[in-house]
Amino acid sequence: MTLHFVESAPPGRTSGTPVVLLHAFPMDSLLWAAQRKSLAKAGHHVITPDLPGFGGSPLPEAEPSLDVYADELARLLDHMTVQRAIIGGLSMGGYATMAMLRRHPDRVAGIILADTKAGADAPAAVQARLAMAEGVLAANGQEQVVQAMLPNLLGATTLASRPEVVAAVRRWVLAQRPAAVAWAQRAMAARPDSGPDLAAFSGPALVLYGSEDVLIPAAEAQSMVAALTAGGAGVTAVEIPGVGHLSAAEDPQAVNSALAKWLGGLPT
Ligand code: MLT
Repeated sequence: MTLHFVESAPPGRTSGTPVVLLHAFPMDSLLWAAQRKSLAKAGHHVITPDLPGFGGSPLPEAEPSLDVYADELARLLDHMTVQRAIIGGLSMGGYATMAMLRRHPDRVAGIILADTKAGADAPAAVQARLAMAEGVLAANGQEQVVQAMLPNLLGATTLASRPEVVAAVRRWVLAQRPAAVAWAQRAMAARPDSGPDLAAFSGPALVLYGSEDVLIPAAEAQSMVAALTAGGAGVTAVEIPGVGHLSAAEDPQAVNSALAKWLGGLPT
């Protein structure tokens, strides 16, 4: 499989360490469109893939596992002749980033973990994921996924005052295939604890979290910082105020500036 992706780079520049940004569940690379454009203007080569099954990428035939996302991303990097990249992801994209640390650590020059967490799911959360997987396949549509997720994906400020963001996220979720949503839920339900993978990483790391995130609270960001610090990684943590779980969409300017500042401080 070749993952569908969109890339941006300043004219004439595709050298330097590329930045790969992986989207959240259940949407596609449109989540990172504002960051891709803004970071390319700041001189970075940015690649935003659609994870397997989402957007323009085919659904995997393999059993659901985040390892498949990592392996397909490594294959995409091969295809683009990119040896190492800064890999980042928001929420499920963060889980996929941590799967890259497990499966292909030699391809990871730095990590960005946005609105995500290292721990595996508790049994009740696993059951809820498996139930959503069944439900979305039975309904053969995404409306119930939107109803179930939208109020928690977005922060209180966005729900009250950014109707264009609410409408865009609704569109992104409705555009996905039920089979991809079910596959991803089963893959996330099976994911292991990534704390040891963070502790084994010694490169640069940026941890971003929204102050109004009710799906993954700030304490999870603090645990990732602790695991990374214990392993000797250089960690920067940034709280994005007034946003919930989808920080990149809720306040693109704030996330763009946090990313640009951190990337700008890395050795070239
Ligand atoms: C996401 O935003 O990617 C999901 O909320 C992640 C999850 O369900 O754990």
